[in-house]
Amino acid sequence: MAKVSMAGVGEFCHHYPRVATIVTVHAKGKDNAMAAAWHSAISINPPIYGVSISPRRFTLELILEAKEFGVNFMPTEQAELIASVGGSSGREGDKFQRFGIVKEKPLKTSVPILKDAYACYECRLMDHKTYGDHVWVVGEILASHFEKELFTGKQVLNLERVSPALYLGAELYTIPAKDTIRHLDRKVYGKR
Ligand SMILES: Cc1cc2nc3c(=O)[nH]c(=O)nc-3n(C[C@H](O)[C@H](O)[C@H](O)COP(=O)(O)O)c2cc1C
Repeated sequence: MAKVSMAGVGEFCHHYPRVATIVTVHAKGKDNAMAAAWHSAISINPPIYGVSISPRRFTLELILEAKEFGVNFMPTEQAELIASVGGSSGREGDKFQRFGIVKEKPLKTSVPILKDAYACYECRLMDHKTYGDHVWVVGEILASHFEKELFTGKQVLNLERVSPALYLGAELYTIPAKDTIRHLDRKVYGKR
């Protein structure tokens, strides 16, 4: 199959699917939550995580104030919540109240931990830098929360028990097909 080649990126959807998360923050006496699909692990030791956030988001304003943020990893059953917090702004009102979001106690920060998340990181803001029209927000993971029974002994997500919400772009969500898992050991495959 021949590729279409073009200057630039068009609809910018070629890098999906991506795990859709909910980024949370507590500042100015308010909780807020937004959907974020542009995020990444950056370092293992110390553990550092990054999220790309537009300066138009109320969440960014609050993160810069609080100097901390949470990254909540959601099961596919919560895709509607992801679309809800990703389709409204905390400037218009309290999303926790409006969407009935239940939170749990954080360990090291004041960020809301979402009860329905299968895992969550509490991050302390280390750095932020503007790239183009987004700000790359970098945080040290001070604490993590996860549903132990949804992970294998190696802390791999058990797809028999939970499906992460994957965002496909264009307001579409999907799930990974669990019967397609393959174990390809890099030590073996690197020597082929
Ligand atoms: C699936 C999905 C993924 C999103 N990913 C991001 C993202 O990575 N970065 C970003 O700045 N906005 C992203 N958004 C948009 C924000 O979630 C949205 O603008 C939200 O309303 C911001 O809320 P706030 O103003 O309360 O911060 C995403 C939206 C959706 C639905």
